[in-house]
Amino acid sequence: MNILVVGSGGREHAIVWKLRQSANVRSIYCAPGNAGTASLATNVEIAQSDIEGLVAFVERNAIDLTVIGPEQPLVLGLADRLLAVGRRVFGPTQAAARLEGSKVFSKDFMARNGIPTARYKTFGASELTLAQEFIKSLKPPIVVKADGLAAGKGVLICPSREEALEGVREMTVAKSFGAAGERIVIEEYLAGEEASVFVITDGERFVTLAPAQDHKRVLDGDLGKNTGGMGAYAPAPLVTSELLKKVEQDVILPTLEGMRREGTPYAGCLYVGLMIGDEGPKVLEYNCRFGDPEAQVVIPLIETDFAELLLSVSERRLAANVDYQTSRSAVCVVVASKGYPDAYEKGKPIEGLNQFDGDVRLVVFHAGTQTKDGRTVTSGGRVLGVTAIGEDLDLAARIRSAYDAVGKITFEGAYYRTDIGKKALRHLGRKTTEGTHI
Ligand code: AMP
Ligand code: GLY
Repeated sequence: MNILVVGSGGREHAIVWKLRQSANVRSIYCAPGNAGTASLATNVEIAQSDIEGLVAFVERNAIDLTVIGPEQPLVLGLADRLLAVGRRVFGPTQAAARLEGSKVFSKDFMARNGIPTARYKTFGASELTLAQEFIKSLKPPIVVKADGLAAGKGVLICPSREEALEGVREMTVAKSFGAAGERIVIEEYLAGEEASVFVITDGERFVTLAPAQDHKRVLDGDLGKNTGGMGAYAPAPLVTSELLKKVEQDVILPTLEGMRREGTPYAGCLYVGLMIGDEGPKVLEYNCRFGDPEAQVVIPLIETDFAELLLSVSERRLAANVDYQTSRSAVCVVVASKGYPDAYEKGKPIEGLNQFDGDVRLVVFHAGTQTKDGRTVTSGGRVLGVTAIGEDLDLAARIRSAYDAVGKITFEGAYYRTDIGKKALRHLGRKTTEGTHI
């Protein structure tokens, strides 16, 4: 099988790494890829947003399966274009990707299908008075969200009603998020702890992966600015197998059924961002792809043949709802460039990467790297995902291994959080996990 993986982050390196372990895989290409994917696949210089360029590459190179990593090409309709020319693809169609591409669509979808989520209303630019009235009915903090894709920045948690109204004005009138903010969602704030559940689905059947937790803020203790994610671990002890069953029943099944009934069946990886609070799990958001860095801990724990799993989704023949248990665990610490998520410098040489080559328990996934004059240099905000993988559920040991490795890799301005996984240990202290799916 010849496979094209679209994207260039840690998630795509993890996908390529896992596909390399499948028996039936011959060539893997990655567009555009990074220095990490280059060691396992052939990087091709096509941007992830160049839909026609990607389709032409698939046709010219006898690609059997295209795996689409990021949301942007999915929302732009890459899957539809590939399906239209008779190619297999892992990733939802443009209509199904609206679950991530439009927050107005996803909230209305949840409301129509009885899926638990925060109370909300949607508004356009001409509806400021109505928005103000709705804000008055909510107790602060109040959450304001831009409808469209905003690179993880389109959500405002506003401590007061005044700030909420100001946020609404900025999005709809001042257009701080461009077209993404033409419509907005205002919703109640949910208290609790966040978790991410991923299912791989062909539209009807699904496989649940190990639930994960991300660390979205840049500083220790979940302080500072929001980022793409500074680290992750799986399985998350917060999500017991009982809770996971509830998520499958109350969220996953009605989502897949709803999408089928509405004529836009969802096939690919469905990422459900949950808030686990006193009233049980509620959906914060859907994403139409693997999370990043969550992919770097969730994908290594998959115990079946990954290429076959993704191929079976693309052929709509996933084995009946599989319920594997994992007794393994993984922790990923993201090493970022100083300054991220604001401006940062690029092109810093990275030392110490090779010492982990061939190690099955410590994998350094590349997120923002490039090869320059034969050296690996930084090229992004999130640079590496240093991931410890182990044969048991001892997350404390995984955390130690990951940080031990982080200490051996250096580049100028390297920054990382020092408390990745701490949350998990708190839960483990209370209750041991019973193992989770796949
Ligand atoms: P989203 O892009 O919808 O996931 O939102 C980004 C982040 O904002 C989430 O991961 C949460 O941390 C936070 N968030 C979003 N919606 C809510 C809400 N209704 N209540 C509390 N926090 C929220
Ligand atoms: N880690 C959050 C995301 O992938 O959206």
